[in-house]
Amino acid sequence: MKPTFNIIWHARLSSTNTTLQELAERTPDLPSGTVIATREQTRGRGRLDRVWISGKNENLTFSLFLRVGTDPHRLPSASMAAAVAAADLLESEGIQASLKWPNDVLVNGKKICGILSEAVSGGVIIGIGLNVNMDTTTHIDQPATSLRIESGKHYDCEHLLPVFLNKLLPHLTAWECHGFSGIRKSWEARVTNLGKPIRLRDGNQERNGVLAGFGDDGELLLQTDESTRIPIWSGELTSPPRSRHHS
Ligand code: BTN
Repeated sequence: MKPTFNIIWHARLSSTNTTLQELAERTPDLPSGTVIATREQTRGRGRLDRVWISGKNENLTFSLFLRVGTDPHRLPSASMAAAVAAADLLESEGIQASLKWPNDVLVNGKKICGILSEAVSGGVIIGIGLNVNMDTTTHIDQPATSLRIESGKHYDCEHLLPVFLNKLLPHLTAWECHGFSGIRKSWEARVTNLGKPIRLRDGNQERNGVLAGFGDDGELLLQTDESTRIPIWSGELTSPPRSRHHS
């Protein structure tokens, strides 16, 4: 990918992913690196049918189109590359971040950034929501935080976007050339629960095991007994309940 981003800002959109998807569908030669960003997002989409709503100038909500092959196995690691970039951005602001498979970015166990990658004709869309200026996160259905809560500072989202894109560029270039192995080191350096017992929920199914590592495309490897490692492509990771010890 040539390192040029073409940023299109909107005042208000329902979802930057949806707007970019529609643009990509009706523009067969849409350049790779096209970015749709919005100051306010009224019905953003998250993983597992969650909504990602963002008030005016509150958060960074944007989507990036990349013209790449659309092998579905490569899609998850595109989000992982974006998660690594978000962690870089936070660290440059003095905030220590960790990564939770498949692509959550956490600060002290609280979510600060969510990513939704989707295949579209001619490439992929990587949608990113970074909590920036929120003072409170009590309206969110899971423990969450923001740059403002962590640093005490107020940020101009319009200035933050190119900073984020600059962090993204080396990881996306590595991902485009080498897939997950291009970002494996950066991912594994920050990932939580490696080698630990975990529980994975996918729809109604729950599985317990140990997070043994990640496969060639970033799929999670769940060790369920000494000789069995199951590749997992989707789901939500939780910690298993602590076992009770009886004396
Ligand atoms: C998640 O569930 O963690 C993923 C959330 C992704 C939200 C972002 S906000 C910008 C982009 N547009 C969307 O509609 N969703 C993504």
